Amino acid sequence: MKTSARVQTCGKLYLAGEYAVLTTGQPAIIKAIPIYMTAEIQAASAYRLTSDMFEHSASLEPDPDYALIQETVAVMNDYLQVLGYQLQPFSLKISGKMERDGKKFGIGSSGSVVILTIKAMAALYELDLEPKLLFKLASYVLLKRGDNGSMGDLACIAFEDLIYYRSFDRELVRKRMGKVYLQQLLAEDWGFEIRSIKPCLAMDFLVGWTKQPAISKDLVNQVKSAISESFLTGSRTQVDALEKALLAGDKLAIQSSMEKASQLLETLSPAIYTDRLKVLKEAAEGLNCVAKSSGAGGGDCGIALSFDVASSNQLIQAWQEAGIELLYRERMGHDEPES
Ligand code: PMV
Ligand code: MG
Repeated sequence: MKTSARVQTCGKLYLAGEYAVLTTGQPAIIKAIPIYMTAEIQAASAYRLTSDMFEHSASLEPDPDYALIQETVAVMNDYLQVLGYQLQPFSLKISGKMERDGKKFGIGSSGSVVILTIKAMAALYELDLEPKLLFKLASYVLLKRGDNGSMGDLACIAFEDLIYYRSFDRELVRKRMGKVYLQQLLAEDWGFEIRSIKPCLAMDFLVGWTKQPAISKDLVNQVKSAISESFLTGSRTQVDALEKALLAGDKLAIQSSMEKASQLLETLSPAIYTDRLKVLKEAAEGLNCVAKSSGAGGGDCGIALSFDVASSNQLIQAWQEAGIELLYRERMGHDEPES
């Protein structure tokens, strides 16, 4: 047991497979974004939770603002007790709210906070949690709270990489929660698949922030009835094609699969492509780039892959003129396979 520890978690953004991934067994490609939340944990005489999202702190007494963190602490305390640890109260301080001027970036702060809390507690107890177990524990917390997401955000944040994620049957796991102990459930095969993708092509990954906050949960509720078999087949085809193209470093196939994934979202619901996201996407036309909305849409961020510097600069300029801020930029991938 340590007396204190400091841990971080990243953000995430979808490249492809949004909405489809809500259906069991469907894939998505999600990228870790190195914009971090930080937690400082310290053994203390009583529980004290503090987040820079709120003006006040909390103990473990029910507090709606801290409910997600409190639930995470409760699940971890259960888990630690099963493992035979003596519980130790602590103070936990969370910062890095992934927003500016009160407007969130939409890169996964609620998923990030759950993983962050688990990581902080694991660090305090010197418990080595591999990413897969971290993902299952975090999913357990969100399922317990009735979350309607695919858990793709958690998979990406737990693995901190560009990942291919195939979703599991969350309803089935939720039902198992009432039947078996946490320990057993964690040992079971939930049927998901998570693997890293190492792109074999150097390119610019650009994130455009619309500064229009969107609530994924509401969009999912609004859009989910439109998800059809043909949308699912189309999305899966493009996600699989995109993974292959990234691995092969096939620029044209990367562009084409992202473009088709974007079109699938555009026809799924008019709620996804807001005016600003349309501009964000259309700005890539005629350039050596491809751009699309990312995640639930309705605001938040869009992404682009750009294959030469001049195109990147032109795209960023066009975004700026439309009030879209370049939130993050990364040179990703390699021209040669990594040995
Ligand atoms: O908007 P984001 O980045 O939270 O992504 C939501 C992605 C959806 O597929 C629409 C929902 C989900 O939980 O997978
Ligand atoms: Mg979003």
